[in-house]
Amino acid sequence: MTSEGIERLIRPHLARFSGYVASKSPETLEGKVEVAVEDIIKLDANENLYGCSPRVNQALATYPYLNIYPDAMQTELRKLLQGYTGVDAKHIVASNGSDQLIDHVLRLFIGPGDEVINCVPTFAMFGFSTELCGGTLVEVLRDEDFATDVNAVKAAISKKTKMILLATPNNPTGTIIPQPDILEIVDTGVPVLVDEAYVEFSGETVSQLVSQYKNLMVLRTFSKWAGLAGLRIGYGIFPPEIAGWLLKIKPPYNVNVAALVAVQESLKDIDYLLGRVKAIVAERERLFAELGKLEFLKPFPSQANFIFCSVLNGKASEIQQKLERKGILVRYFDLPLLRNAIRIGVGKPEHTDALIKALHQIGEEM
Ligand SMILES: Cc1ncc(COP(=O)(O)O)c(C=O)c1O
Repeated sequence: MTSEGIERLIRPHLARFSGYVASKSPETLEGKVEVAVEDIIKLDANENLYGCSPRVNQALATYPYLNIYPDAMQTELRKLLQGYTGVDAKHIVASNGSDQLIDHVLRLFIGPGDEVINCVPTFAMFGFSTELCGGTLVEVLRDEDFATDVNAVKAAISKKTKMILLATPNNPTGTIIPQPDILEIVDTGVPVLVDEAYVEFSGETVSQLVSQYKNLMVLRTFSKWAGLAGLRIGYGIFPPEIAGWLLKIKPPYNVNVAALVAVQESLKDIDYLLGRVKAIVAERERLFAELGKLEFLKPFPSQANFIFCSVLNGKASEIQQKLERKGILVRYFDLPLLRNAIRIGVGKPEHTDALIKALHQIGEEM
């Protein structure tokens, strides 16, 4: 059979599937930028540039049981997450990054013909996983400040609606959805997935309300606040029946032992890590003020660890390219709903200094 023949056997709804445009890994830029790979400033994937707790490195260096599979039921991990969230372990499931739980929740609820309401622009993995399941995306536009239009969400509900996806703070815009708005949407009775990947930076959560609703689910991650993006550890808080189903459908060993050790150590070092979160929040405000001084950018207020900017003069793609050549990575967008914009992660003060200097240079060359 030719490869073309094999391709014809792929599920037809995937014919137009475009995949996810992931951030660039610094090592792939060796020789293409003006700085050494180790000096690249990575502000393109909302990672934590302070790194993880040093306790994680120490514990992983001597961990003796890499030859043993992790506990498929995540017993210890879910207990630790109970301690961190204050929500009983029966509500909690962990995953290989919260991306995996977006996928699993949608796989649990969505099949061909089912509708998923998505408040766009938002995190690309929502559309990715919906399309992978064969679901139909029903897109509800955010307003000019990227706030969620609750009435439009409610008006978009049809008999086929099986899920409403909400990110708060939203990626890439940094906007939060106020709790009363979330609850008004939850009160429709449709399953609602609230992605709180950046909650440690915003301080606003609905996780404590999950036990009161049958249709409210919350996702979290250790990628951002705890600096563990590379180890892939996320979790969700669900009604217990849904948690039971997610434990059933996940691959048995989806969270590896290194991630478990990293969570254990991070939670022992919580004051240190939350101190870093505080520093990032303070730096976010300084970065916002500095970006506002540039005539060609309009930064939007953010409750996360990144800042979204409309490009008022010039092209976002060119700004991204020029910054990349100087060794500073940011994300650019030029999509129907995200015309000419960049998203910049918040790093340490020295990263802000380097970025702002480079942006001023770019501005002078315009
Ligand atoms: C809104 C949102 N949800 C989930 C994720 C994925 O996080 P994780 O690293 O836990 O898969 C991201 C990552 O950028 C995100 O922005």
